[in-house]
Amino acid sequence: MSRVHLIQHGAVFELRLDNPDKLNAFTRDMLDALDAHLGAVERDPSVRAVVVTAAPCKAFCAGADILAWGALSPRDFARHWVRDGHRVFDRLARLSKPTVAALGAHAFGGGLEFAACCDARVMAPRATIALPEASIGIVPGWSGTQRLTRLIGEPAVKEMALFGRRISAERCLALGFVAEIAEDATASAFAIAEKATHASPRAIEVAKAMIHAGAGEDSAAMIETLGSGMVGATDDREEGVAAFRDKRKPDFTGA
Ligand code: COA
Repeated sequence: MSRVHLIQHGAVFELRLDNPDKLNAFTRDMLDALDAHLGAVERDPSVRAVVVTAAPCKAFCAGADILAWGALSPRDFARHWVRDGHRVFDRLARLSKPTVAALGAHAFGGGLEFAACCDARVMAPRATIALPEASIGIVPGWSGTQRLTRLIGEPAVKEMALFGRRISAERCLALGFVAEIAEDATASAFAIAEKATHASPRAIEVAKAMIHAGAGEDSAAMIETLGSGMVGATDDREEGVAAFRDKRKPDFTGA
C-alpha cells in the first residue's frame, strides 16, 4: 500500500505523507509514489493548487529513512538515494501549479527540504525545523544547503546544519520561511491554496516560472520554457512546421 496519497478536494489536491510509525520518514517507495503523483498532478488541468500534508504524529516528516539509506552501499547511497531524491524534490519545486506545505509538527532533514520545495508554508506554533544530518555522519542531500539557503539565508542554515540548532515557528515567520503560524496548519494551508484556484492558472504558472528564473531555481530551463511559450504561440511556428512537412521554404510574417 502506498504511503503517499493524492486526495482531491475540488480544485485543490492534497499530497499526504503517511508513515507515522517512522515519523513520516521518506522510504524509497514513498519517493517513487511521490514522483508518480507529481506526474499525474502536472498533467491534470483540474488540479489548480496542491497542499502537502502528513499523517498526524510528532513530526510532519523526520527526514529520510535512516535505516533504509544506511543499508545502501556508498555508491548506491549517492546515486540512487541522494540523486533520485533530488530529482523528485526538484519536480515538486518546479511543478507548474502553486503548492503550500502544512507543517503541523517538526520538519527535520529531508522533511524540511521537502517543505522548502513548496511555494508557501504554514506552521503550527510548537513545530520546529532542523538539519540534524551531521549528527548521524552525513550532510543534507536533498537541497538543504542550496534551495533552503536561497530561501532563508546562510546564517540560519548554518545554525541548523553546523551547530545542530532547531529553529522555532516564531523565527521561521521572522525569516519569511512560513506565511503564517496557525494551530490548524492544514486548514490555513488549504485557505491559502484555495485563493490560487480563483486566479488564472496560466498567469500563476508563468509568474512562478519568472520568479524561479530570477531566484536561480532551474534558471536555464525556466528561461527557455518562458521563451518557448512566447515563440511557440506565434503563427510563424505553425508556418515553420507546415513548410517542413510540405518540403517548401517557409513564409514567415512575424505574427
Ligand atoms: N528514519 C527512520 N526512522 C525514524 C526516523 C528517520 N529519519 N525518525 C524517526 N524514526 C523512527 C524512530 O526510529 C522510532 O521508531 P521505533 O518506534 O521503531 O523505535 C519512531 O520513528 C519514533 O521516533 P523516536 O525517535 O522514538 O521519537 P522521539 O520523539 O524520541 O524523537 C526525533 C523524535 C525526530 C527527535 C527523532 O526521531 C530523530 O532524531 N529522528 C531522526 C531525525 C534525523 O536525523 N533526520 C535526518 C535523517 S537523514
